[in-house]
Amino acid sequence: MGAGIALVSAKAGWDVLLYDITPAILDKALARIKKGFQKQVEEGSCSELEAKRAVNRIQTTKSLDEMAEVHLVIEAVSEQVDLKLRLFEEFGRICKPDVVLASNTSSISITKLGTAAGRGELVAGMHFMNPVPVMRLVEVTRGLLTSDETMELLMGLANRMGKIPVESKDSPGFIVNRILMPMVNEAVFALAEGVATAESIDQAMVYGTNHPMGPLALADRIGLDTVLSICEILHRDLGDQKFRPCPLLRKYVEAGWLGRKTGRGFYVYEN
Ligand SMILES: NC(=O)c1ccc[n+]([C@@H]2O[C@H](COP(=O)([O-])OP(=O)(O)OC[C@H]3O[C@@H](n4cnc5c(N)ncnc54)[C@H](O)[C@@H]3O)[C@@H](O)[C@H]2O)c1
Repeated sequence: MGAGIALVSAKAGWDVLLYDITPAILDKALARIKKGFQKQVEEGSCSELEAKRAVNRIQTTKSLDEMAEVHLVIEAVSEQVDLKLRLFEEFGRICKPDVVLASNTSSISITKLGTAAGRGELVAGMHFMNPVPVMRLVEVTRGLLTSDETMELLMGLANRMGKIPVESKDSPGFIVNRILMPMVNEAVFALAEGVATAESIDQAMVYGTNHPMGPLALADRIGLDTVLSICEILHRDLGDQKFRPCPLLRKYVEAGWLGRKTGRGFYVYEN
């Protein structure tokens, strides 16, 4: 997701500093971004010169301390509460005091992240969809402490990226995942109970409800670890049994079957 957000930000004309805890991932991300631009050039949605200029706007860094120089942060680390809280505490310490901190979280409380950063009025959700260069929606989430100015800034930036921003309150899963994840999780229950094969479940949803892809293929694309984390957060924070993650989903994650990114999830992929 971080690579996709970097791509659309650079395309919008902003300088981007990309950071990851694992330096090797930065090289992979850059290669992915270049491939993404190449595809856009082929499709005609970007000229070769625009693509080259945009790629040149992206720098990578191995040091979080370099965030001291940035004007805006968009965080997209793994969907783990403790990890994000630690990082927002660090942003609060490292970044200039007036810098807005946005999170691409799918489900974690924005208010909690704002408090961890010590600047709740400058923290909001900016939830991009996967794949970022293709999907138009950005959910912009207002934490309890988020200021109107922060919301206006992020809605405006999403517009400039060519996205459609939709405002949501700070409730677990916001709009999209509150509604989408129960469907994905239910598809895993249907598989676990032997209602149908993975292929049949996906075909039924594609041809029966006009979804562009089935829920199990979608889960593989999102990453089963991310799906599980979101379901756990919905279950815990909303306190409703209907969000209970399917044990089969948990088992797949335990086996390292995380979907496309590991080559195996509900389907097998050649990476
Ligand atoms: N996958 C999706 O379809 C999707 C869609 C919308 C939003 N999101 C959200 O985007 C975020 C990232 O999702 P993803 O699927 O790209 O996850 P991912 O697990 O594939 O990638 C997360 C990246 O974070 C890096 N990371 C881990 N700890 C770090 C740290 N301390 N400092 C810096 N980098 C660190 C990892 O090395 C990895 O490259 C999550 O919050 C997720 O909920 C995901």
